[in-house]
Amino acid sequence: MTDILAASPRGAIHFIFTQIMRNAFSLIAIVALFPVSYGAQSRAAPKPRPAVVYLSYEDARPVLDSLKEVLPSELGDASPEKLPLVWRDWVARRDHDIRSRLNKGDEDSLVNFLLFGTSFTLRPRLTLADIARAGQKENSEEATKAFALIQARAEDLIQGIVAPRDNERLLFARRLYEAKGYDLNNPAALQQAKIDLIKNLARVLEEQAGYGRLLDSARLMGDTSQELALRSKLYKDRGLSSDTSLKPNYAIERALASIKANAWLARASVRRVAIVGPGLDFTDKQDGFDFYPQQTIQPFAIVDSLTRLGLAKPDDLRIVTFDLSPRINDHLAQARARAAKGASYVVQVPRDLEWNSELAAYWSRFGDRIGVPVMPVTVPAALGMLKVRAVSIRPAVVSGIDSEDVNIVLQHLNLAPPESFDLIIATNILVYYDTLEQSLALANIERMLRPGGFLLSNNALLELPSSRMRSVGYETVVYSDKPNDGDHIVWYQRSADK
Ligand SMILES: C[S@@+](CC[C@H](N)C(=O)[O-])C[C@H]1O[C@@H](n2cnc3c(N)ncnc32)[C@H](O)[C@@H]1O
Repeated sequence: MTDILAASPRGAIHFIFTQIMRNAFSLIAIVALFPVSYGAQSRAAPKPRPAVVYLSYEDARPVLDSLKEVLPSELGDASPEKLPLVWRDWVARRDHDIRSRLNKGDEDSLVNFLLFGTSFTLRPRLTLADIARAGQKENSEEATKAFALIQARAEDLIQGIVAPRDNERLLFARRLYEAKGYDLNNPAALQQAKIDLIKNLARVLEEQAGYGRLLDSARLMGDTSQELALRSKLYKDRGLSSDTSLKPNYAIERALASIKANAWLARASVRRVAIVGPGLDFTDKQDGFDFYPQQTIQPFAIVDSLTRLGLAKPDDLRIVTFDLSPRINDHLAQARARAAKGASYVVQVPRDLEWNSELAAYWSRFGDRIGVPVMPVTVPAALGMLKVRAVSIRPAVVSGIDSEDVNIVLQHLNLAPPESFDLIIATNILVYYDTLEQSLALANIERMLRPGGFLLSNNALLELPSSRMRSVGYETVVYSDKPNDGDHIVWYQRSADK
C-alpha cells in the first residue's frame, strides 16, 4: 500500500485537500478535544500477580549513557546528580504521552473503517491505492467519482454513528466523536464530524506518502541494513494502532520452526510466553474487514504454533499479553470471563487470494491444535468470493491467557526468576518507537526473559554493549508476489547474567 501511494502521493493528497476545500461545508472550529476514555478494565476474581513496575534509573542508566547523542534535552542536559529525579519525571510524562498516541491510532482505524467498511453502507469499498490513482488524474471523471464515493461513504458512516444499533465498530466511533465534544443530535455538528473524518483521511494519506518517500530514499541508498533500520522505526510519530492480521503469525511459526530445527529450543521447553501488543482486528489498514466481531488473533496463534511444533504442551503453557490499550486489555478480560463460563472464542480468518501457497497452507491449518473449525459468518455480497475460515477456540486455551496493562517502553513485570519468560513475541509494535524508546523496551524485555530465552520481533533493534540481548538468527518470510509483502523475523537471545 505504501509503495502504490509513493508513486503518486502528492497528487492524492492535493486531490483530497482541494476537494475538501471546494466543498460548501463551513469549517466550524471543533468545540473541544477531550482525550478518549474507556471503561476501566474489568477483571474476574483477582489473583496475586507480579507487580508492573517502571524501569528504574539504575536499570535505564546503561541505555542513557550509550545514547547520549539522541537523548531528549531534559535528560541530556541534566547534571549527573539530578538525573535520577529528572528520569522519574520524564518517565511519568513519557508514559502519558505514549498512551495519548492511542487516540490518533483510533482515528486511523476510523479512516480504514470509512474506506473498507461494509457494515454501515452498501456502497463499494475504496482502497488508498484507488484514491492515489484518482488523485493522479485531477478533474478527471475517475477523480470526481472517487471523491463523490468518499463523501457518500462518510455520510453513511456519520448516519451509522448517529444510530449505531449493536454494531460494535459504530459504537466505538460514536464514543470517539462524543469524547471529541461533538453533539451528535446537532445537524451542524454532524456536518463538522463528516469534515473531520475526511480531513483525517487526508492526514493518513499524507502520512502514508511520507513513509513511501522515506522508504524510497532508503532503497536508493542501496544499503539493505540501513533500509531495515529505517523500516524498523518507520511509525515512530504515528498514532498507536491496534491493527492485526494472520500474516505475522505465519512468520512467527516459521521462525519457531527454524529455532527448533537448530536446537535452540528443546521439545516441550516453552512454558511461559509473553506477547507484547497482541492487537485487535478492528478494520486493518491492509484492506481490512468489518463483517465479523472484533477479535484478537496472535495469542491464540502462538499457542497453536508452539503446540504444533511440539515446543510446548498446551496444559503446561501460560501466556501473558502486555498492552497499554484499555480496549485490547478489556477485550481479553471479557473473553476470559466468558471462557470461565464455558464459552469458546471464535476467530474468523479471511484468506487473501494473492497469498502464496505456504501462507495459504498455514491459513488452512490455523487453529487445529487449539480448537475446531466452525461455520464462518456470512461474507457480505460486496466482498465477492472472499474465503473465510472460522475456528472455535477451546475455553481452556482462552483461560490460559492473562493480560497486563504494560507500556513496554517504560515498564515491565517484576518477576522472580522462576516466573521469567522462555519466549517473548513483539511483532509490529516496536516499529512505533525511536531508537531510545526501542532500547528502553529491550531493557524491559531483558528483565523478564530467562537466561537463554528469546525475543522474536520483526524489527532490527540496536544491540547496545550493555545489553544482554543479542540477535542470533533470523527468518525471512514472503507472503505473496506483491513487492515488500513479507516479514523479517529476528530472534534475540538473552545471555546469562554477567
Ligand atoms: C499494530 S498492533 C500489532 C498487533 C500484533 N502484534 C500483530 O503483529 O499483528 C500494535 C499493538 O501494540 C500495542 N502497543 C503499542 N505500543 C505499546 C507499548 N508501548 N506497550 C505495549 N503495547 C503497545 C498496541 O496497542 C497494539 O496492540
